[in-house]
Amino acid sequence: SGCGSSGSQNAASGNNSGTGSDYPKMEIKFSHVAAPDTPKGQSALKFKEFVESKSGGNISVKVYPNGQLYGDNDEIEALQANNVQFIAPSSAKLGGFDKSFELFDLPFLFKDEKHLEAFEDGQAGKQLLSKVNSNNMEGLAFWPNGFKHITNSKRPIAKPEDLKGLKIRTHGGEIINDVYTALGAASTKLAFNETYQGLQLGTVDGQENSLVNIETQKYEEVQKYLTLTNHARSEYVVVTNKKWWDGLNAKTKDLLTQAMKEATSVGRNLVEKEEKEALDNIKKHNKMQIHQLTPEERQTFLKTLKPVSEKWGKDIDPNLLKAID
Ligand code: LMR
Repeated sequence: SGCGSSGSQNAASGNNSGTGSDYPKMEIKFSHVAAPDTPKGQSALKFKEFVESKSGGNISVKVYPNGQLYGDNDEIEALQANNVQFIAPSSAKLGGFDKSFELFDLPFLFKDEKHLEAFEDGQAGKQLLSKVNSNNMEGLAFWPNGFKHITNSKRPIAKPEDLKGLKIRTHGGEIINDVYTALGAASTKLAFNETYQGLQLGTVDGQENSLVNIETQKYEEVQKYLTLTNHARSEYVVVTNKKWWDGLNAKTKDLLTQAMKEATSVGRNLVEKEEKEALDNIKKHNKMQIHQLTPEERQTFLKTLKPVSEKWGKDIDPNLLKAID
């Protein structure tokens, strides 16, 4: 509804395939909080490019990065109200709908990209995705962000005790809260686009995120120490408005589904390369002191955090955890 009907002006607008004119004229909004130059930002732009070119320009996709349109605190409601048709929040931000979305925050659960992709592409991944399919939402894909690491402004971190008393900004969630409690610290939920300021003002002492986010948000300007912990994973869930999605004609839905696949593979192909480049840049800038956990230090973190994994193993759909080995 409200999409307009005729594609007849399209012939004049550079449609070179001759097939695009079959698509209804419409504008789609895609909102996210990360920088354009991240795997998520690039995936969103690939989605736009694919849809616009294959629809002969009939379908336009406006991508709003950096929380320009909606931030963490309002993007889900905006999606449910169809003020935006696509968002891609961190999985844990959907934890209020189903605890299983927080499983990526379980400490040291996933080994590498292959391990994650096997989970996401398998039956368990589909099950997890479908858990958002109520409340007028539908889950379409997982997109990668990277492994998470910890920065702070107080002291170098090599063992759990080093975190004692620190306030760490996180994307929020019960599992992540328990993780930081077990480390003697506190997890403080703060919107992503307010985090730089929180770090600058000292409202929080540190934060955890992917290397790509750490670099593109310039946290090095307001943080002294980076510890490469790889302690958990940051994954996104791409969510659309269900009523809007169900109302699309089959051809349009196919095109968007195809575009989503292309966009997903762009992010997957970029993520490791961008993590590496982000770390190289951070090293080059030489503003933060970097510590890579040794295997022994990693073991100590693992041991300290084991009770958290054991506790939450009960609240997460056991079929999902069984699929991760
Ligand atoms: C965060 O809040 O830390 C992340 O979810 C931000 C992002 O990349 O979307």
